[in-house]
Amino acid sequence: MTASDLVIVILAAGKGTRLRSSQAKVLHRAGGRSLLESVIRACGPLGAKRTCVVVGHQADEVTVLAEALGAVAVLQQPQRGTGHALLVARRALGNARIALVVPGDAPLIRPETLKALVNTHRSGGAAATMLTAVLAEPSGYGRIVRRSETAVAAIVEESKLSDEQRAINEVNSSIYCFSLDKLWPALSRVKPDNAHHELYLTDTIAQLSGNGEKVLAQVAADAREVLGCNTRAELAEVDRIFRERKREALMAAGVTIQLPETVIVDPDVQAGEDSILEPCVQLLGRTRLGARCVVRTGSVLHDAILGDGVTIEPHCVIAGSRVDSGCILGPFARLRPGNHLKAGARIGNFVELKKSVVGEGTKAMHLSYLGDARIGARANIGAGTITCNYDGFSKHPTTIGKGAFIGTDTALVAPVRVGDGAYVGAGSVITENVPADALAVARGRQANIPGWAAKKRRELAAAQAKQKPSKRKKNGRKAAPRRRSSARKSARRR
Ligand code: UD1
Ligand code: MG
Repeated sequence: MTASDLVIVILAAGKGTRLRSSQAKVLHRAGGRSLLESVIRACGPLGAKRTCVVVGHQADEVTVLAEALGAVAVLQQPQRGTGHALLVARRALGNARIALVVPGDAPLIRPETLKALVNTHRSGGAAATMLTAVLAEPSGYGRIVRRSETAVAAIVEESKLSDEQRAINEVNSSIYCFSLDKLWPALSRVKPDNAHHELYLTDTIAQLSGNGEKVLAQVAADAREVLGCNTRAELAEVDRIFRERKREALMAAGVTIQLPETVIVDPDVQAGEDSILEPCVQLLGRTRLGARCVVRTGSVLHDAILGDGVTIEPHCVIAGSRVDSGCILGPFARLRPGNHLKAGARIGNFVELKKSVVGEGTKAMHLSYLGDARIGARANIGAGTITCNYDGFSKHPTTIGKGAFIGTDTALVAPVRVGDGAYVGAGSVITENVPADALAVARGRQANIPGWAAKKRRELAAAQAKQKPSKRKKNGRKAAPRRRSSARKSARRR
């Protein structure tokens, strides 16, 4: 559905001074997305003719983000307030009748709430319709001064509140619908008479109302939707609410989450029924879990695709990898991007994988590095196996055939191939291909020297005996033999 008379203006030019950051406020993240991305996404379902984002601080970065999400960027330079931002955007709004204005720093807003506001505006025939909220802690927000139960007289910013007004807990969300033919004349009458010498969009409300225009206010059913992110504490609170929403959605879809408040799940993550997330798990990016997966405590998955019934033991770090059904990983496994583990593969503790394919049922259980490797089905990779994939200039592949057995502490110097069913003896440094079904042993041969150790011990004992008398004299330790005999006695008693 497109609403051809509606445009959306997202205000995103401010620096966010109160965040004390070198990064523009709308680029900060909450709930796994930048603030601006969440706001643009919430506006999407309204089907507006155009979405304009007013940019200023870090304009280039904010423009790239806005355009990637289908919005048009309008530069406000310098930033002279929220009313000035609207004036700057005026040309970009074309001949639309209604503008929905949304601040770029209130990312919890939901599409349904925005839709309801636009509908109220249309059906009410108002010059402006504002979304307000009743907050227990209203400080920092502009307060709504009502003329009557239904009509608004003005918005008063925190700095200008009278003692009486300070008690008002209905706040301005900065989300408004304006009939543009009414907005422009009202905005032209607004003066920058505040400490920052800015043009406040909030002042248009008193202008409209004072001119006898209809100004409506709709109170948000869920006050949390309007929360702004002006400080780090507010950002943390908004992040917490986003995370809670996502966990609730997953639980409703049949996922068990233990100690939910410790689990972080990004918005695009999916998880199948009967999967279990233990405490302190993070599922990030576009991670997808099949049904009946278990992700145990402390594991972090980023862009990981898991089949059904995969178990991730505690403290694994998995990025950009596909793990097919029935695999078991960890504890303490690390998958860097580009791996594909086929069904039933097992990767154990302190095993690192990068850009490797691990065949069905293959095991690499301990202390290995497998990079740029293709490993066939049901192979066994012994403890401490290392693919030496980098020669200091470029990376090279290692291929291990199905059913191969790589002995403990093998170094596979790539490029190299080990054939199907071949064996490699423990401690080998494999520099040449191993044919299928062969045994390769590539290490120094063992030499046993009979009696060497016993002879050594005899020699040492003789040397010590020579030194002893003079030593004893020096230290005056005459009691030593008696101690030995009492030790012998007590041994007998036992
Ligand atoms: C604003 C409202 C306040 C409301 C609160 C809700 C004003 C004067 N006050 O206060 O009544 O309760 O939002 O969150 O509007 N921006 C621009 N250009 C500018 C200035 C700001 O694009 O010149 C953008 C900012 O980047 C931000 C948004 O407008 O995304 C709101 O500005 P902000 O400074 O956060 O206003 P608040 O103090 O929160
Ligand atoms: Mg704000």
